[in-house]
Amino acid sequence: MAKRIIFTGGSGKAGKHVVPWLMAKGYDILNLDLKPLDCPGVNTLHTDVTDNGQVFNALSCHFGFDGYDTGKGPAKVDAVVHFAAIPRILLQPDNVTFTANVTSTYNVIEAAMKLGIPKVIIASSETTYGVCFAEGDKDYHHFPLEEDYDIDPMDSYGLSKVVNEKTARAFAMRYGADIYALRIGNVIEPHEYDKFPAFMADPPSRKRNAWSYIDARDLGQIVHLCLEKNGLGFDVFNAVNDTITAREPTAEFLNRWCPKIPLKRELKGDEAPLSNRKARDVLGFKEEHNWRKHVK
Ligand SMILES: NC(=O)c1ccc[n+]([C@@H]2O[C@H](COP(=O)([O-])OP(=O)(O)OC[C@H]3O[C@@H](n4cnc5c(N)ncnc54)[C@H](O)[C@@H]3O)[C@@H](O)[C@H]2O)c1
Repeated sequence: MAKRIIFTGGSGKAGKHVVPWLMAKGYDILNLDLKPLDCPGVNTLHTDVTDNGQVFNALSCHFGFDGYDTGKGPAKVDAVVHFAAIPRILLQPDNVTFTANVTSTYNVIEAAMKLGIPKVIIASSETTYGVCFAEGDKDYHHFPLEEDYDIDPMDSYGLSKVVNEKTARAFAMRYGADIYALRIGNVIEPHEYDKFPAFMADPPSRKRNAWSYIDARDLGQIVHLCLEKNGLGFDVFNAVNDTITAREPTAEFLNRWCPKIPLKRELKGDEAPLSNRKARDVLGFKEEHNWRKHVK
């Protein structure tokens, strides 16, 4: 029987690419969102994930009318992928962003654990590395940015994602469950590669993203690999593509644009400063959409 996955925020920028990717892998999916998703075969249950009662209810629902045919009530859910969020600062007041993101993640993880759903994947963010939404020109502590970094954002959105990782860790410990947090880089949809020439013409403009990105379809692959990987308990993965968004080798580029930031290890070739080495090594991620394929 196909694995049954509940996806929150599937109607958004990232979700609308990741959900079809997962469908193509054969999962049954229910989307929880405030907006509709145009993906035949995936029902969207209009759910406010900041409301704990709605989340418990939605995580124990039928996915569609065919669920009623068995006469046995809703079938078990194999995993929840939680992407719903206020996805950056300056969309809502800071306190609303923080409260909504922290509360919704707590609600989703708590309900999943208490309903016996053994796996949750949450969208964390590159902003946890502290530079993306920092006041002024803050430096990274070192390169590459890897999952053991001392994350220290000063903004309400990045802070909400740090708290969410702690929430994930607490529940994974308490329930012996697998909860994986993806520190997602700047999401690039297929039509957005026309932005890259401007990125490269103005290298300082991309410092806040550590000259890195994630193709929305490759993000689908990473989520899929997380759904298939078991037994890690709580874990964190940078979800980014392999290479730097520059034409120069990484070590030379960093030496030119931020010579004071130390290198913690050798950066070979064009490895992205926000490194996906762990996703490659542990999950087996193999990118399909390097920007060089899409930018002449
Ligand atoms: N886009 C990026 O570059 C990026 C980078 C790093 C991390 N992320 C994270 O990835 C996830 C997806 O980001 P995105 O760019 O697709 O954002 P998005 O805003 O396009 O999509 C988020 C979706 O969540 C839904 N949503 C928001 N509040 C909700 C609520 N209370 N209840 C139910 N649904 C709600 C929205 O309707 C929307 O469809 C987010 O958690 C975001 O913080 C995004």
